Amino acid sequence: MPVTVQPRGDVALVVIDNPPVNATSRAVRAGLMDAVARVDGDPALRAAILMGRGRTFVAGGDVTEFDRAPEPPHLPEVVAGIEAAAKPWLAAMHGAALGGGLELALGCRWRVAARGTRLGLPEVTLGLIPGAGGTVRLPRLVALDMAARMASLGAPVSADAARDAGLLDAVLDGDLEAGAIAFLDAALAGPLPLRTLDRPAPADPGTAAWQGHRVASEKKHRGQAAPALALESMHAAVNGPADAALAAERQTHLRLRGTVESRALRHVFFAERAALKAPVDAEPGPLDAAGVVGGGTMGAGIAVAFLDAGIPVTLLERDQAALDRGLSVVAGTLDASVKRGRLTAADRAARWANLTGTLAAADLGSADVVVEAVFEDLAVKRAVFERLDAACKPGAVLATNTSYIDPNAIAAATRRPDAVVGLHFFSPAQVMKLLEVVRTDGTSDGTLATAWALARRLGKTPVLSGVCDGFIGNRILKVFRQAAERLLLQGAGPADVDGAMRAFGMPMGPFEMQDLAGLDIAAAMRAANRARGQAVFAPVADRLVAAERLGQKAGGGWYDYAAGDRTPRPSDAVAEIIDEEAAKAGTARTPLDRAAIQRLVLGPMVEEGRQILAEGIAATPDAIDLVEVHGFGFPRWRGGLMFWGETAGPGR
Ligand code: NAI
Repeated sequence: MPVTVQPRGDVALVVIDNPPVNATSRAVRAGLMDAVARVDGDPALRAAILMGRGRTFVAGGDVTEFDRAPEPPHLPEVVAGIEAAAKPWLAAMHGAALGGGLELALGCRWRVAARGTRLGLPEVTLGLIPGAGGTVRLPRLVALDMAARMASLGAPVSADAARDAGLLDAVLDGDLEAGAIAFLDAALAGPLPLRTLDRPAPADPGTAAWQGHRVASEKKHRGQAAPALALESMHAAVNGPADAALAAERQTHLRLRGTVESRALRHVFFAERAALKAPVDAEPGPLDAAGVVGGGTMGAGIAVAFLDAGIPVTLLERDQAALDRGLSVVAGTLDASVKRGRLTAADRAARWANLTGTLAAADLGSADVVVEAVFEDLAVKRAVFERLDAACKPGAVLATNTSYIDPNAIAAATRRPDAVVGLHFFSPAQVMKLLEVVRTDGTSDGTLATAWALARRLGKTPVLSGVCDGFIGNRILKVFRQAAERLLLQGAGPADVDGAMRAFGMPMGPFEMQDLAGLDIAAAMRAANRARGQAVFAPVADRLVAAERLGQKAGGGWYDYAAGDRTPRPSDAVAEIIDEEAAKAGTARTPLDRAAIQRLVLGPMVEEGRQILAEGIAATPDAIDLVEVHGFGFPRWRGGLMFWGETAGPGR
């Protein structure tokens, strides 16, 4: 039964049991309606306590229902039923009380939660606004400023913050059921609190305050419609009759379920959840100790990712100077987290104590997984893997972070190609969520299962990739860059392309991005591509590198920079080079508008994605969408490259 009513003396325990997260599915809603009637109809009962079974209270609505016509009883009726019940209800929460879960609690007379509970209205992260009174009831309980932030930003608050704000009556330690019963006993001795909707609405804080919330939500959820609509709904709730506000909120919520924005966000949400399931049916190995080879940009970041997950790391470098550098980069990264308040000094010390530096491969003998991140050079990598093969224990997973080298050729340097897999992290490795897991010809199911377990442990989103040049992400990146550069010859300026891609929702355009990273990095990539016999189209970039316009650090790249200022300014010198290259190519330059630029850049990327699918490099379009969203800043609310291509892209 998704909802049970269990008497505890003169109190009814109403327990929602709908694994895994007690979503407010139809059967739960119906069960709650019955529970209201049963409690009201039983003269032996004085009140009800609403709880969730398992690891959480109610983490939200049933997202799988959002594609269908809503089925009664609807959540607003359930919340209203609890609120209007003759017997008062107490919500006793643990885990997460999100979306519909929090809305249920808002219908109760009292709310308590176990310490550590997270409470919030995250609907905007799915392109929606609350649909069962969240924007109407919440501002009657907590300060409008906090209510507006919760509904428009979508971030949850802690139980302590919720209690301080008035959303919770108490934060409980110890057994939740016992604590809730004790709370209720005491509360019933006092006067009954008003129903939430009977509380007065707060005063309107004025245009400037609303505008401030709009700006903040636009910054966090750039390009999305839902956050402003959540604020609009709350504005109506504060300034008009509650029932009209409730009806309008519901209507907006239902309308948004059908928008591309919401469908796209739901698509990514489901793809992320599915990605966590290993693509093989095998037992993962242990993950008690890790090794990292190479303490450069990537190796240091990967080491931090392991340390953050509580896995001890041994870092192997080629000489003492490089080892010292690598260790100091790790230390610096941890220090920065402490400075930003993300890490306590004690946690920093614990992480640091988990790190060992070494120059001896033998010290990797007890590692369960080793990630190699040395120079992008096959001979160097093969030599490293030969040493790992000799040093590592049987069963250890040997992973390479290579960007472009065929991991089969690396695996062939060992006597255990079944243990070799690509683990392609993205920079900065301790931050970026994407982990491309590259399966070689020999990678065993057990190795893949361990790679998946590791990804989960590190909090990454794993995506399986077959072997090809650049795997999924960098292969599409190459098409992106070439398409962008082609547009320069056709008539767009770097600022036009960057502006169009930002307007599309990317955090940065391709040219400002190269200026930030340094044009030498992209140039090295092109050189490597060419060395492998690949054609690379970058006539303008090649000229900029030749002219030592290497980006911000050189005072100029695709743009000019004034000393000490990172503001990109259009460059006459670059414009001249573009004109010359266009003339050489025989293309007449004509201006391109934003839509044309977006189409001409993204269209070839979608085509490349289709090719990647046709070759079986990616198993599903969802895999490509996750790569683009989590590795390359493709706007989540557009659903990822392939989803966008299907719903809005050219030639869909
Ligand atoms: P890096 O040049 O910053 O670091 C390489 C490190 O490996 C250096 O500290 C070097 O001393 C060390 N090293 C070289 N030979 C060694 C050996 N035989 N034994 C032990 N250590 C050795 O390079 P980066 O950028 O960290 O790249 C490393 C790998 O990660 C490359 O395969 C690269 O393609 C890949 N990668 C790089 C990304 C990036 O954004 N930089 C992103 C994803 C992958």
